[in-house]
Parts: sequence; C-alpha cells; structure tokens
Amino acid sequence: MAHSNGLLGYRPGHLSFYWSWEPMREEGATVDACLSYSKSDVQARFNINVYGGKEQEMREDGKVQGVVTKARNRAERRCKRDGVTAALRVTVTYDEEETSTSTTEREQQELDRDSEVESEASDALTQSWHGLEQWRSDPQTESLSEGVAEQRRVEIVESQTKIAELELKLSEAEMRFLEGEQLRRKLHNTIQELKGNIRVFCRVRPLLPEEEDSDLPVIQYPMSVELLGRGVELHAEKGQQYTFTFDKVFGPEVEQSVVFEEISQLVQSALDGYKVCIFAYGQTGSGKTYTMLGATEPERERGMIPRSLEQIFMTSKGLEQQGWRFSMQASMLEIYNETIRDLLSASVRLSNVGQIDPASGGSKQHIVKHDANGNTTVTDLTLVEVTSWSEVATLLARAAQYRSVGKTAMNERSSRSHCVFTLRITGVNDGTEQQVNGVLNLIDLAGSERLSRSGATGERLKETQAINKSLSSLGDVISAIANKESHIPYRNSKLTYLLQPCLGGDSKTLMFVNIAPDKHSAAESLCSLRFAAKVNACEIGVPRRYARLAEARRES
Ligand SMILES: Nc1ncnc2c1ncn2[C@@H]1O[C@H](COP(=O)(O)OP(=O)(O)O)[C@@H](O)[C@H]1O
Ligand SMILES: [Mg+2]
Repeated sequence: MAHSNGLLGYRPGHLSFYWSWEPMREEGATVDACLSYSKSDVQARFNINVYGGKEQEMREDGKVQGVVTKARNRAERRCKRDGVTAALRVTVTYDEEETSTSTTEREQQELDRDSEVESEASDALTQSWHGLEQWRSDPQTESLSEGVAEQRRVEIVESQTKIAELELKLSEAEMRFLEGEQLRRKLHNTIQELKGNIRVFCRVRPLLPEEEDSDLPVIQYPMSVELLGRGVELHAEKGQQYTFTFDKVFGPEVEQSVVFEEISQLVQSALDGYKVCIFAYGQTGSGKTYTMLGATEPERERGMIPRSLEQIFMTSKGLEQQGWRFSMQASMLEIYNETIRDLLSASVRLSNVGQIDPASGGSKQHIVKHDANGNTTVTDLTLVEVTSWSEVATLLARAAQYRSVGKTAMNERSSRSHCVFTLRITGVNDGTEQQVNGVLNLIDLAGSERLSRSGATGERLKETQAINKSLSSLGDVISAIANKESHIPYRNSKLTYLLQPCLGGDSKTLMFVNIAPDKHSAAESLCSLRFAAKVNACEIGVPRRYARLAEARRES
C-alpha cells in the first residue's frame, strides 16, 4: 500500500495530519482516525470509522508522534484484515493552548505588530508636534534669557530629529503593513485558485420548535480571526469536539437572501457558458429542500432555485441590449433506486404515493448519453422551453407532485430520491457572432442518514442502500477530480454518470452541507461534516498547495 504523509495545517488548539493510502474507489471506504491529545498528560483517543459502516473507538497512551504512527499502523492492519484499501485522515486536537503557530497566524501576528508600531509611532509624533506647538505659542518664549533660549533651540533641534526619525519609522511601518495586506490578499486569491472549482458551504438550520435546546449548543462557531465565518465546531457527547473549516459557514440566523448573495456569481457564470452544479447534501430534515427550494411564501424564504432562475432571466433580458439572444430549456428528473424518472413528463401519473403507474407511460427507461461535444442527453426526457421564472414555478409545482416521498421513522416527508433540476442556456450574439452554452444544475440530494437511524427494512433498506451508494460515489468522484486522478469513477452511479460533464473539467461545483443543530442529530452531523471535509480537504492537499504556490510566486 503506497502512502504519503504530510501536515495538513496547524493552529493553536488544533493540529491535523493527513495520511492517505491508495483510496479505495470501488467500495467507497474511508478510514477516519480522530485523536484528541492533551499536552500535559499525553493521552490520546481515537475513533476509527470505516465510512458507511463499522465504527470503533480505541484509547492509547504515548507521545503524539507515536500515537499517530500507532493510529496509522492500526488503520493499516484493519485495512489488511478487512481486505480494504482506504484513505486515513488523522486529526490531532490539543486540549491545551498550543505553542506552535501556523504561517497565517504568524503573518497575522506580524501584521498586528506592524500596526502597533505604526500607531505608537504616530502617537509619539503627535505628542512631539503638540509640545513644539505649545512652546512656540508660549508668550513667555520671547522674553527668555539668551541661555534659556539656546537650551530651547537645542531642544527644538532634538525634537525635530526625533520627529524625523519617527516619521521614517511610521512610513516604514505603513509600508510593511501595506505589503502585509497585499501579501494576505494575494495568498487568499492563490488559495481560492488552488482550491479549484469546488467549493463547500456549510449551512446550519435553526432549532425547530419541537427540538429541545440543550445547555451546551451542539454546533458552535469559532470566533478567531482565522476561522470567523468559515469554521464550525461540533460538540459531541463525552466532551468530544470536532472543528471543520469550509469556504463559508452560515449559522441559523442567516437568511436565504444572504446565502444567495454568496452563490449569485456562480449562478451568473452559467450565462457566461459555464457548467454549474449546486448540490445540497445532508441528512433528512437538515434543510436541503429549504435551502434549494425554500418556501414560496413569504418571499424572503424563497430558496436558491427560484432566486437563481430569477437572476438568470433578469440578467439575460439585460444582455439583450448588447445583442444577445438567449433560449433556455428546463428539465427535471429524479433518481430513485438507481432509476431515472422524468418529473416533467405530462404522461406520468401516480397510482399512489411513490409508485409510478406503469400503464401511464411513466415507466420509460431513460438512458444517459454524452456526446463528443460534452453535451448530455437523457433519452425521452421532457425539455421545456422557458422564458420566465413564473413558467418555471409552474413546472416545479407540477414536479413536486410526482416526487417520491416515503415514510421512514425519521421524517414522513423524507425524500428518498435525488432531484436534479437542469437549465440549459444557449446564448447567441448576432453582432459579435459569439455563442455560449451554459448549464445550471440544482440538486436536492436524498437524505444521507445511515441505515440504523431511519429504521429501514425490506424495500426501504434497498432504497437506502441505493442512496448511500450514489452518495458515496459522488464523494469518490469529487475527490478523484480534486486529486487529478487519471480514472474518475463516474460510472459507479446514475447520479455521477448524469453529472459527469458538470463535475469535471472547467465546470464549477458548489456543495452545501446542511446541518441540523439538535442533540440527536450530532452523530449524523458529524458524518455529513466529515463527508464535506473530504470534499473540501483533498482540494487543498498540502503538497499541491506548496508546489503551485511556489509557481505562482515565481510568475509574479
Ligand atoms: N435555514 C432555515 N431556516 C428556517 N427553517 C429551516 C431552515 N432550514 C430548514 N428549515 C426547516 O427545517 C425543516 C426541515 O427542512 P427540509 O428542508 O425539509 O430538510 P431536508 O430537505 O434536508 O429533509 C423544515 O420545516 C424547514 O422549513
Ligand atoms: Mg427535502
């Protein structure tokens, strides 16, 4: 088993290592080892979690490096024993404050120091000027004796020298501060660029009225400069704490309009000819549908789909003045038990909830096809020409009736299927003879919950397994793309095969990981956060970051 290791990142109170073995794509297994470690009395705990199944906790004493090695060895042995190959991610969390400081932290401290020097120098300067002015305006100054006057002159010269020195110091500090700012901005842009086209946003919904408010909130938001707006902490039972960082973290108070602001640029790029994919991932009841579709009333609760489409129609109308003509086609399908259903087909009738009446024509076999130009077609799928948001709204309402909803012990409206809304955009500019072909995919994924919690048996169990398979395939595809692997396992599920052209290449992908903040969802939330971190973390793998950063620096 080939493995590499490296430091993912470290900051006070947190230290992460990352090891990866040849990841096992087919079976979709990941081994997570989480260690918590307190500095004074070296104690480490770690869980080994084979994704999608077995979970085990182990305790170990020893020095941190030894512990990490042990974790690695144990994971390796387990992998051998179970005949799996897996990716191991080791997270070491210090309980105590930590002395080592990260690069960004150090940069921040330097910037802070520079700005301190700057303000000290500027204070001293102001004081000196003040003293000088006071002396000049002193009416007694003129009547002073020669000797005193001479002494004052010396004092003035000294003050002026001091002022000159301070001015120099101030301008130097200003310069450093500016350089620091520029460096910080540049680093931020470079990181964004290196992260490629996959972004992960985490959204935590509010507690629902029926959910109990635990003393200690299960989800907390770190307030440090580094993590503000990007970090999320999960407090599990037994005082375990897990910190995750994403491109953005939206707390329960964040409204739909604010979330949309963050994705509006991405949506816009579909009009520029990009293929855009926006997913909502999370357990049932975590707020996926709320985020994607939202409520029709009141208006401020409308989700990303209506807002995106409204923006697209509005912007495309505006572009008409520049000679553009756009045509848009909407389609909507559902992937249920690895079978595609057309949600806009006029002939689909439901015999009862979740069952398609075969006599109605809804049992058509839809096949996904990709052509050489990167266009995807689904055979016999209804494409509807749309020109306004209200037309789309009618389609969505129709589709909602056809969606499979089933009862599980968890949530009677639990969605058991992936719902894919696609808008194909063709734009032609007669004046410039330009043409763009953009695609916007908005996807409400099925609930990611594990079997045990939803109490599924029989048909339901088969469904849940199908859902887990396509969700883990999605994770595998995303990490394979991010790791620039030669083989991307698109064909492992209908979902990934359908989205193949939108997931790779120059397409832009955003994943919302939706989180329910209640105590009982903590275990599922941890799974969701880990899945999202897997999507996020492999993007910024340290070796690549440094290699590309060095290149970017040389270029500039
Ligand atoms: N950000 C939010 N603000 C207010 N209510 C929310 C939010 N997210 C979810 N909800 C509510 O939580 C419940 C579950 O959300 P839903 O979107 O149906 O979850 P999912 O689609 O993941 O199963 C719904 O009653 C929904 O209105
Ligand atoms: Mg839903």
